[in-house]
Amino acid sequence: MLIKKAELIRSSEITPESIYKQRRLFMQGLAGAAALLSSGAVSALSKYDFNEDWPVYPGPNWIQPSISAAERNNRFSSDEKPAPYPDAISHNNFYEFGLGKQDPSRKAQGFKSDPWTIEVEGEAEKIGKFALEDLIKPYKFEERVYRLRCVEAWSMVIPWLGIPLADLLKQFNPTSKAKYVEFTTLYDPKQMPGQKALFSSLDWPYVEGLRMDEAMNPLSFLATGMYGQALPPQNGAPLRLVVPWKYGFKSIKSIVKIRFTEAMPKSTWNLTAPKEYGFFANVNPEVDHPRWTQASERRLPSSLFSPNRIETLPFNGYADEVAHLYSGMDLRKWF
Ligand code: MTE
Repeated sequence: MLIKKAELIRSSEITPESIYKQRRLFMQGLAGAAALLSSGAVSALSKYDFNEDWPVYPGPNWIQPSISAAERNNRFSSDEKPAPYPDAISHNNFYEFGLGKQDPSRKAQGFKSDPWTIEVEGEAEKIGKFALEDLIKPYKFEERVYRLRCVEAWSMVIPWLGIPLADLLKQFNPTSKAKYVEFTTLYDPKQMPGQKALFSSLDWPYVEGLRMDEAMNPLSFLATGMYGQALPPQNGAPLRLVVPWKYGFKSIKSIVKIRFTEAMPKSTWNLTAPKEYGFFANVNPEVDHPRWTQASERRLPSSLFSPNRIETLPFNGYADEVAHLYSGMDLRKWF
């Protein structure tokens, strides 16, 4: 598959001028100074080359101070070069907006992600409906540069912004019965054309889940931004999961519900094709997908003449952090 340039929407077309100018300064690396003046925090956020014609996503007003104060978490960040921003926002899987890689960037631009409510259910002391802003604002944002390995055998390096998943989950005080946590994407066929019955490809809404110890692992991350700005709709605004040692389909987008459960959640891809997509879905070069090898991957950007094929690493290169979670488990059976 060839990667094409993003649909180029001038940032000035989708953003009030003051914000887009402010963001340009930010992208040019002056944010550190701005953050210093406003909050006293030194922002060590990575700097990205932004072309002024590329779309920017400022997100809701409440997110800006958290983004400005974000710092890169070096311990959990890869030193690899992130994918160019146009690739990360135009080569997407988000079946709610269609099956093509460019459908999400084309069809999600009007998506309303603010205000946003998260419903918390199940085996926890604190359950109910919460405004995303209230849930997220107390935490300091981190930047984490992670590899994302899709089960389709392409991969990208992406600098996410957000908070550790464990921080958010702990505030609900899960009970001892909470063995798993389930996440659900918004169901709104009016906004998400892929959910309309006629074109439906999956059972909606999209559901994913993690075992509690996986969810509490420090690598598990909730992203509200990427490339130093709020999350674009095609990448799962306003809140998505990022689980870098698992195939990308575990990293569920546009989350509206979090449910603590005793039983293993019934996740969308596992229900759709259980022989092809396991619940655990740990990146494993030794267990092929029934229709293609998982021993290598195409690192984006890539092209016909420069395929950029690299070896796939167990747990996507994060074995030191997570292999212990699966000790004693047969990973061929629990793929
Ligand atoms: N979440 C929802 N709700 N719907 C989807 O179709 N696709 C998954 C995952 N999260 C998907 C989803 C897959 S298969 C991948 S590889 C990643 O999102 C892709 O994330 P990206 O588009 O930000 O690169």
